[in-house]
Amino acid sequence: RVPEPCALVVFGITGDLSRKKLLPAVYDLANRGLLPTNFALLGFARRDWGDVEFSELARSAAREHARTPWREEVWERLANSVRFVQGSFDDDNAFDELAENLAELEGSHGIGGNAAFYLSIPPALFPVVLKQMQRTGMAESTPERWRRVVVEKPFGTDLTSSRELNALVDSVFTADDVFRIDHYLGKETVQNLLALRFANTLFEPIWNGHHVDSVQITMAEDVGIGGRAGFYEKTGAARDVLQNHLLQLLALTAMEEPVEFSAEEIRTEKLKVLRAISIPADGDMAQFAIRGQYEQGWLAGQRAKGYQQEDGVDPASTTETYAAVRLGVETRRWAGVPFYLRTGKRLPRRVTEIALSFRRAPHLPFAPTDTEELGHNQLVIRVQPDEGVTLKFGSKVPGSVMEVRDVAMDFLYGEQFTEASPEAYERLLLDVLLGDATLFPRNAEVEASWAVIDPLEAFWTGTTPHSYRAGEWGPRAADAMLEAEGRAWRRP
Ligand code: BG6
Repeated sequence: RVPEPCALVVFGITGDLSRKKLLPAVYDLANRGLLPTNFALLGFARRDWGDVEFSELARSAAREHARTPWREEVWERLANSVRFVQGSFDDDNAFDELAENLAELEGSHGIGGNAAFYLSIPPALFPVVLKQMQRTGMAESTPERWRRVVVEKPFGTDLTSSRELNALVDSVFTADDVFRIDHYLGKETVQNLLALRFANTLFEPIWNGHHVDSVQITMAEDVGIGGRAGFYEKTGAARDVLQNHLLQLLALTAMEEPVEFSAEEIRTEKLKVLRAISIPADGDMAQFAIRGQYEQGWLAGQRAKGYQQEDGVDPASTTETYAAVRLGVETRRWAGVPFYLRTGKRLPRRVTEIALSFRRAPHLPFAPTDTEELGHNQLVIRVQPDEGVTLKFGSKVPGSVMEVRDVAMDFLYGEQFTEASPEAYERLLLDVLLGDATLFPRNAEVEASWAVIDPLEAFWTGTTPHSYRAGEWGPRAADAMLEAEGRAWRRP
């Protein structure tokens, strides 16, 4: 489906996100023929640029990071309707100019008044930008035109601030016109989780606490914090990704079947899970809510700095770069099943996966020595890289004796499908322009997620994170957390 004629307005167009994700996504959409013929891209930022300089930057960013092959003619067509508006966010004139540009494009480029505004700016700037949009009437949807706003995470820093932020956004845009981006929901394999669960008969009957022993959700990164010390120091791993990406993955894993595949129904089911999450009891926090910080170490044969030595980081910083927690989901389906979530920077490799570990057979008719190397059956949904699904089960080792060992059956996206999957931002941007909110968390989900994170943060305040060496799988205390329950983290 191709969206109606429209404009995309990006605030903070000179930032990293625009360069690496948004501009390439716009190009990829155009290249795949998924943008309307009447389309305009407007960049707004403080930098003193003209249309030509902006267009040049946009071109090189798109060219460098696009997923689809480069075709100059596609860009040329796009470039005709690229505009840049310079100004600071509190500058009335600049916003008047933006409104004029939009009105003019409505006529000259036939965009029909439809526009999506992408707030690729720090949340501290939301109030002033939203106020400007309200003042100029830009935020108003009418029966003749739609106006939508895209908000990037972090949605606040705790429950209170996220409520304030939500109230602010909702005072300017109607709820249906607000799109909160969690780019993990735009990833192909994350959506495949729903297909795997609800399009098949094989998995759903065992997708519950009768059969599942535990669930591990891992989002590991080998990178450090890059140039983002300013943001990261104030944020930490739990607020940066546990609150959003990991809890969304948990919600999709644990949710009931939606009545239909629609935004309303899927978001309703996810919200129920988020509301049913239980955190470790006060006395258990020290054991089951672990945070860590990397020290210097080695990664892929290269020396890696410790977090406290990174540029812009306080040498005595207690910000966590790793977080692991044991959560429960208090529903009939999941009561008693631990959900172990972990994330960290400077871990040995980049991998995101959801692993369901099944209960052991109640009885094995083999000699104990025959099954020494037999683990739990596992179903692993690999979100990235090497997108796919792996089923791990016991199999006889060839030979004259009965020896059973784990083997893996692999489904790899790249092998089964030739179509290159769209990048998460490409998919989500298209959904915004189409007005499809299925893959965007609702207000209440964001708040329910903060309700999970706030007590963890409160427990961690004033404590020092455990340390781990860059290139290791997190602090020792995180291993101990699972060992205490007779389990171990996967080493993907
Ligand atoms: C972002 C976090 O949301 O996700 C970053 O702010 C993190 O800290 C990034 O590096 C990871 O995204 P991806 O798609 O590369 O896994």
